[in-house]
Amino acid sequence: MKKRLITNQITEEDIHIETSLRPHSIDEYIGQKKAKENIKVFIEAAKKRGESLDHVLLYGPPGLGKTTLASIIGSEMGVNIKITSGPAIERPGDMAAILNNLQEGDLLFVDEIHRLNRQVEEVLYPAMEDYVIDIMIGKGPAAKSIRLDLPHFTLVGATTRIGLLSSPLRDRFGVINKLEFYTTDELCTIISRSANVLNVEIDEKGTYEIALRSRGTPRLANRLLKRVRDFAQVRYDGKINEEVAKYSLDLLDVDPLGLDKNDRKMLLAVIEKYDGGPVGLDTLAATIGEESDAVEDVYEPYLLQLGLINRTSRGRVVTDFCYKHFGIYNKNKEGTNE
Ligand code: ADE
Repeated sequence: MKKRLITNQITEEDIHIETSLRPHSIDEYIGQKKAKENIKVFIEAAKKRGESLDHVLLYGPPGLGKTTLASIIGSEMGVNIKITSGPAIERPGDMAAILNNLQEGDLLFVDEIHRLNRQVEEVLYPAMEDYVIDIMIGKGPAAKSIRLDLPHFTLVGATTRIGLLSSPLRDRFGVINKLEFYTTDELCTIISRSANVLNVEIDEKGTYEIALRSRGTPRLANRLLKRVRDFAQVRYDGKINEEVAKYSLDLLDVDPLGLDKNDRKMLLAVIEKYDGGPVGLDTLAATIGEESDAVEDVYEPYLLQLGLINRTSRGRVVTDFCYKHFGIYNKNKEGTNE
């Protein structure tokens, strides 16, 4: 299969894996207990009233199942789902056409919703609030605006950057849920389920080793499981145990904390080039040849969660735990009582 890189860490293959291993009902969906319980109640209530579900905003780092949850909401509500993304809709007319083509109850999923431009976003305000759109007919002094009624639909927006959403847009979502990194136990359950779907034999310790190195992210857990399966089939007897998992993950350059080459490059740059920091986001991104957005959205959230890096008003600093992880002596600690 072609492996075109779609964003930093997502290939077409990942999307294919994610689709085939994706849970189809809310009860099959593992983790995100709080978001799941809330959404279950709102779905049941909307169904009881015979209404469409209120608009839902899902936010959190990439790979945590925002698209999966959106498609589950669609199937639990028993409605059609239309999928688009912020950067794909360039003009207000495109958004108006998408909205005008929806059927009663449909779910419109807008991924990367923070990347909608302001004019397109403005079409959404009356659509979300009153299920209408205003379109301009003609130009100049003869131009007039006509109002079109829309079917009652549910907008599900997903974003990795809630802070970049304008407040008028954010305020029009009735349900806002943050998706969290998964625990190792939750990832173990997901990996076992995926191994079952893929028909690969894996024991408890093998499962645990993959879960530990998956950065709290199901998309990565499923990708690593597939790669470890390749090693198991070519170099071993096809079964995955702790030894096979460790061997394969080491070769895949995923370390025991789940850090990959890019994470290590970034953390080591802070240590070696900026004496542990602080270093500004843009400077750091340029040093490792990445976009600032990718550093902030893709790499940092997990490094922050692990406590390897801190954000300060003067920039990014690595922690003593980070020095210890790399086995590098932290001379900045000299003279402190830590
Ligand atoms: N596969 C990917 N994400 C999942 C989740 N949250 N639950 C079950 N299977 C998954």
